[in-house]
Amino acid sequence: MAAKQVYIINGSPRKNYNTAALLQAFAGGVREANIEVEVTEVNLYDLHFTGCRECYACKLRDGRSYGQCGFHDDITELLHQVAYADVVAFGSPIFFSEITAQLRGFLERLWYPFVQFKRDENQVIAPKKVRTAFLISMNVSERAMHSSGYDTLFSPVLQWTGYVFGYEPRIQFCFDTLQYRDYNRYWADAWNVEGKKRRHETQFPLDLQQAHHLGYSMIMESV
Ligand SMILES: Cc1cc2nc3c(=O)[nH]c(=O)nc-3n(C[C@H](O)[C@H](O)[C@H](O)COP(=O)(O)O)c2cc1C
Repeated sequence: MAAKQVYIINGSPRKNYNTAALLQAFAGGVREANIEVEVTEVNLYDLHFTGCRECYACKLRDGRSYGQCGFHDDITELLHQVAYADVVAFGSPIFFSEITAQLRGFLERLWYPFVQFKRDENQVIAPKKVRTAFLISMNVSERAMHSSGYDTLFSPVLQWTGYVFGYEPRIQFCFDTLQYRDYNRYWADAWNVEGKKRRHETQFPLDLQQAHHLGYSMIMESV
């Protein structure tokens, strides 16, 4: 049997902080399963690309790029590969109540070619069903996330991903993250810094465990 293809897509500008750690834990869970896997890790902020440019090459009658992204930049090939993956984990911090612009841009490019507007055919033309997960880290608490309505803002991202790839995305939130290693260097005393440090020591390891378990269970489900 061919190796299962897993993509780990980091939509955080930071490669070693909260979101990246969650994604690494997820990848660890994937690798722990006794299954042949090929794991590709991508940092979106290393790549030069934009969101959808509305070139509409993916919708052109008899066009060479019909049903795939026809705009050429650093992610063109990656978009193609991700659509054939078995499991994809997307990670993002919350920036101003939403996922980062980089991840959003990547998703626009990923979703749009697979939604078609032919009257008598299926609207979704993704080549296969793909299991997806979102691992999202944020500064605020769970209660503040709900009261600020982040989850409402976030739900179209889940809906479009589920619609295009056929499985409802899994989601894991990580709250009240440690934003800096050394809070003394930054103006941040509006936050309960001691509380954040304690949470980082007690809750964050559990969040990593949960991400590990998610990776393990998703790759097992894909067999
Ligand atoms: C530009 C910017 C905007 C942010 N906006 C929010 C926000 O609206 N809500 C929130 O809870 N955290 C916000 N944060 C904090 C990050 O989401 C949080 O620290 C996250 O865990 C960072 O992820 P990372 O460690 O992977 O980079 C913001 C951070 C930055 C830099």
